[in-house]
Amino acid sequence: MCGTDGCLVKCSSVPCATPKNDTKDTSITINLDHGDPTMYESYWRKMGNKCDITFNGDDSLSYFANGKSLCWFLESKLEEQIKRLHNVVGNAIVDKYYIVVGTGSSQLMQAALYALSPTDQLEPISVVSATPFYSSYPEVTDFLKSGLHKWAGDARTFEKNRPYIEFITSPNNPDGVIREPVVNGNQGKLIYDLAYYWPQYTAITSPANHDVMLFTISKCTGHAGSRIGWTLVKDKEVARKMTKFMEISTIGVSKEAQLRAAKILEVVSDSCLDPKMENFFEYSQSLMTDRWQRLRQVVMANDFFVLQKYPLQYCLFTKDFCESHPAFAWLICKGGEEEDCQKLLKEHKIHTRSGRRFGSDLRNVRISILSRDEDFNIFLKKLMAIRGPTNEN
Ligand SMILES: Cc1ncc(COP(=O)(O)O)c(C=O)c1O
Repeated sequence: MCGTDGCLVKCSSVPCATPKNDTKDTSITINLDHGDPTMYESYWRKMGNKCDITFNGDDSLSYFANGKSLCWFLESKLEEQIKRLHNVVGNAIVDKYYIVVGTGSSQLMQAALYALSPTDQLEPISVVSATPFYSSYPEVTDFLKSGLHKWAGDARTFEKNRPYIEFITSPNNPDGVIREPVVNGNQGKLIYDLAYYWPQYTAITSPANHDVMLFTISKCTGHAGSRIGWTLVKDKEVARKMTKFMEISTIGVSKEAQLRAAKILEVVSDSCLDPKMENFFEYSQSLMTDRWQRLRQVVMANDFFVLQKYPLQYCLFTKDFCESHPAFAWLICKGGEEEDCQKLLKEHKIHTRSGRRFGSDLRNVRISILSRDEDFNIFLKKLMAIRGPTNEN
């Protein structure tokens, strides 16, 4: 694991990042607040009609799926393609796991919290994650004020002799770091959020085999609009409770979305196995590598931002050493603790998410790297134009 301080690209003097009026970009505002994965559109456009599926009027009327899964609304084609893709990529063990499908992994987070929370306690169970944590966890945990669970903040400061649920996001959103459990108490239940454990973002170092693992098509292939996520669950009772949660909240998951997702995953696996096709992960990894190289150049040339650096790791999928290329840049504004990086970038018409939302400093911001090319290019131009006092000429 790579700590923030040890892995900064550069550490120099600490200039105050006060924006100058004359350097402000007056063109359009770029919104890089959300991790909207539109950068993969170019690949899917190239695939033409390979992903087309059609539905007749009499298709998919039933609430129920035909499969024999414990998750009674899981389409067997989707189950098959999820297992196939994990086997092709080697990022997770699927044998002997139950699969629970959800309307995005966001819904499955709630289902997992429900399933792992004890029902016989007077106090809600504490839910934690190490800072900087994915900004949705506090909201998802506390939104309904359920009485089953409550957000308890940073896992690093949690008193470990009490029951808890810990979210472990690896690679982490927002900072892209590979993570492990932090509390390590003996009354903990762990939810691994592996949304970004795919080869375009990080080296696949071993097949994950944790008790509860969340995945989403949103970050794997870019089809966030289909709203399909899945959980690999070891324990039958946990899978059953998660399925019950889904039944109560939405009586299952859209079959159209599941079957489209199955087709997309099928094409991704085919692209990895058929040398005549353009390998989706090679394509997306090279896009990410290019974006990160260009971003690092701009940040290096600037004197008051720093970026996280990542170690080289051997990837079992690409069979090569590679650096991580996270979906987000975790940009740190040098200067004092009062330096507000999100405000500074907003003045330059770059919308980002403040470090505060991730339980971290105002000096940090999360910037999505997953936008379309045009937006990414404008973002770099705007970032380049922000000059600190020390590098003005
Ligand atoms: C770590 C992490 N988990 C889960 C999600 C939610 O994904 P979905 O679109 O499947 O709801 C996101 C989305 O940004 C994410 O970053």
